[in-house]
Amino acid sequence: MARKLLLDKANVPGITSFEVYRREGGYRSVEKALKMAPAEIVEEVKKSGLRGRGGAGFPTGMKWSFIAKPEGVPRHLVVNADESEPGTFKDRYLMEFIPHLLIEGMVVSSFALGSNVSYIYIRGEYAWIPDILEKAIDEAKANGFLGKNILGTGFDCEIYVQRGAGAYICGEETALIESLEGKRGNPRIKPPFPAIKGLWERPTVVNNVETIAAVVPIINEGGEEYAKIGVGKSTGTKLISACGNINKPGVYEIDMTISVEDFIFSDEYCGGIPNGKKLKACIPGGSSVPILPANLLLTTAKGEKRLMNYESLSDGGFATGSMMGSGGFIVLDEDQCVVKNTMTLARFYHHESCGQCSPCREGTGWMERILKKIDSGKGEMKDIDLLWDIQRKIEGNTICPLGDAAAWPVAAAIRHFRDEFEWHVLNPEKCLTENFGLRHYADPIHVPVTA
Ligand SMILES: Cc1cc2nc3c(=O)[nH]c(=O)nc-3n(C[C@H](O)[C@H](O)[C@H](O)COP(=O)(O)O)c2cc1C
Ligand code: SF4
Repeated sequence: MARKLLLDKANVPGITSFEVYRREGGYRSVEKALKMAPAEIVEEVKKSGLRGRGGAGFPTGMKWSFIAKPEGVPRHLVVNADESEPGTFKDRYLMEFIPHLLIEGMVVSSFALGSNVSYIYIRGEYAWIPDILEKAIDEAKANGFLGKNILGTGFDCEIYVQRGAGAYICGEETALIESLEGKRGNPRIKPPFPAIKGLWERPTVVNNVETIAAVVPIINEGGEEYAKIGVGKSTGTKLISACGNINKPGVYEIDMTISVEDFIFSDEYCGGIPNGKKLKACIPGGSSVPILPANLLLTTAKGEKRLMNYESLSDGGFATGSMMGSGGFIVLDEDQCVVKNTMTLARFYHHESCGQCSPCREGTGWMERILKKIDSGKGEMKDIDLLWDIQRKIEGNTICPLGDAAAWPVAAAIRHFRDEFEWHVLNPEKCLTENFGLRHYADPIHVPVTA
């Protein structure tokens, strides 16, 4: 059984209340951190090797050390709880079942960053969670762990919860800041980065919910101890939200030394594929990351077992690898149609594009239309090349990474499953009647065409 640092207490009855959380050892990290210098806390986070859990995996301690400290200008911590990436629902679990862990991590992180007013920006569809968080905030305040003069140290900190209105783009940190300021959530051109000019043009750090929660065990146990868990630059534990064709969908806290194969097939985690079906493919890190066919998912191109961590999942680059991303693990069995799945994702990105840059605004729509055409049996061979061409022209040519996030799933689907696209063109009459009509891909497991 892997060690749990975040969810170990999530099943304790009554843990959402301050009383039970405190009895179980909660808020110890605040007592410890407030006796340290802010720079010492940043140092511990650096030593821990913690990488941002929101998707990009940027080292958290380094990000914190970039925050500007102009004299007399307030700084802010903003927690990104927008969590709108299809397949990703780990932050929801954490906030719903162990909300004080986030509040505790925020008090410590706010102290380290010099933020006296911090925010949680939460997606609007998580309609019931702000009440849970606000109750935790009230309880922490009533018990002296939040608000004015925390634990008599002279440190003041307020936390406010702000609901989003249901736009995926508001998870992008600068769009989130715009939205928090009351404007339309359009991403800003960077630089300047938020650490220099963020909320209200003040130095701001935006971190994911899980990242901030992980600060609690880092302070309690020390950065070096935390870094001993995991492997390489994938230290600590990671929350994975697993869904799709698996027997046990849910949120799992893993030690990043476990293999992808064990994660999918062991009873401790996903419990295998229902009805004895074969594994066809997986999108291992939320809908934006490249899909991998089963053989490349379980084994890297070097023939090594692929592990559930940042380095191993991206081994081989996009030719044969993918990304850890946000930890949204979507499993596809042999009956699933990659063309249809890619079309569904393309529709999502087209809908969510903010429209500021033409490659993303126009390109996502074109990709959706062409994928619909192929999926419905009206496609031509040249459409596959056109699709490839369009995604190439979006990637890297936009203000924010939503453009890349829209391009990568299409690129990977064509790269690894081109023959499935061709089958749709060659068998138009079967496209609608047989769902995808490609059961032969499942046995033997599809051998990918690598670009
Ligand atoms: C379109 C888009 C959506 C994003 N959505 C989220 C999100 O829901 N939650 C999140 O933490 N990060 C999201 N990110 C990443 C954030 O911009 C930012 O990198 C992250 O919040 C930083 O936190 P971390 O360093 O703790 O990972 C998104 C990025 C893009 C481009
Ligand atoms: S890439 Fe798309 S979502 Fe991002 S700023 Fe450009 S148009 Fe908006």
